[in-house]
Amino acid sequence: MKNKVGIGIVGSQFISSIHAEALKSVPDAQIVAVMSPTAGNAKEFAAKHNIPNHFTKIDDMLSLKEIDMIIIGAPNNVHCEITLKAALAGKHIVVEKPLCMNLAEADLMINTCKEAKVKLMYAEELCFTPKYVRLKQLLDEGTLGKPILLKQSEKHDGPHADHFWDVEKSGGGVTMDMGCHAIQFFRWLNNNKPIKSVYAQMSTSVHKNKTIGDDNSIIIIEFENGVTAIAEESWTKLGGMDDRAEIHGSEGVAYADVLQGNSIQTYSKKGVGYAVEKAGNTVGWSFTMYEEIWNYGFPQEFAHFVDCVKHDKEPLVSGEDGKAVLEIIFAAYESAGAGKKVMIPFKTDADKPYMLWKKRTEK
Ligand SMILES: NC(=O)c1ccc[n+]([C@@H]2O[C@H](COP(=O)([O-])OP(=O)(O)OC[C@H]3O[C@@H](n4cnc5c(N)ncnc54)[C@H](O)[C@@H]3O)[C@@H](O)[C@H]2O)c1
Repeated sequence: MKNKVGIGIVGSQFISSIHAEALKSVPDAQIVAVMSPTAGNAKEFAAKHNIPNHFTKIDDMLSLKEIDMIIIGAPNNVHCEITLKAALAGKHIVVEKPLCMNLAEADLMINTCKEAKVKLMYAEELCFTPKYVRLKQLLDEGTLGKPILLKQSEKHDGPHADHFWDVEKSGGGVTMDMGCHAIQFFRWLNNNKPIKSVYAQMSTSVHKNKTIGDDNSIIIIEFENGVTAIAEESWTKLGGMDDRAEIHGSEGVAYADVLQGNSIQTYSKKGVGYAVEKAGNTVGWSFTMYEEIWNYGFPQEFAHFVDCVKHDKEPLVSGEDGKAVLEIIFAAYESAGAGKKVMIPFKTDADKPYMLWKKRTEK
């Protein structure tokens, strides 16, 4: 392959801006185009990030020969259709989490990419977050003994864009949006050992005027090797993004806090211009992040995916991982809907996870 991997970015808002920033520190990557359907947005994004081509139609961008790989930062309900088009155009694909809306879409994406001989890579940055990478090393080198309990939580006061709140476009609420991080994080820490069961409790506690989806959830995962994992997800937690994990092992315990634990404790009478993602009011005491994108592992994640494309390597996180995460998400919604533990494997032809939780209102 030529020296640099040519990249097409799909989307021009929140996560795509992070993708563009992250790629600036990946020497083997060159962003050659951006595509976004809203007139003017792709053009503005291209000017800001010095990208030579911008498009409003995906087919136009995919016809560019210089593009080797696309990165999908568009709403969940279009991940599948964009992946299929890109695969047929011979492009490698990085899909933001969650992989797609349902298990049938996941199979279609995986099989189409296999047939087209392109890589389907699943963007889960927690597997590249430097503090969590070190945490996994502590586990792998035996410092903590045998893992017993894994915990991870992600919390803020709710997403920035409408499509997250609309279950038709998102597939579900906070469990779909942020529970997916925790599930892949646990699978990765536990070396992809099989999951035995899932139990979940969900509620729409605060945002009933905005969504029928869940805005709080607790997910308990039981692995076949005896490890238990607990995820806490919230769209109702004030005071800025929170992302932390714990490992309780037979020989030790470790706590890792990605944001508050890496920040500058700041007091300001005026407030901080930018403190952290979804910081809210920063007058008085706040925690101010530095190198937020690096601390979250985005440049490291893209360096890996670009290396996979350039040197034909297997990605650390693939379409199969994205599907495995989605299966656990569906099981979590089924559990919360039925009020009982759900055994894995869990098969369902529901078109989105939310439908299984909705059943609770139809009893
Ligand atoms: N890894 C993470 O931590 C993380 C964080 C935020 C979002 N995400 C994921 O990234 C995706 C996008 O989220 P966001 O926060 O950037 O949303 P956003 O609303 O900020 O941006 C979405 C972008 O997608 C574009 N878009 C809409 N329909 C499209 C289509 N049919 N084809 C191509 N582009 C289309 C929009 O024009 C917009 O530019 C979601 O799947 C979300 O779950 C991941």
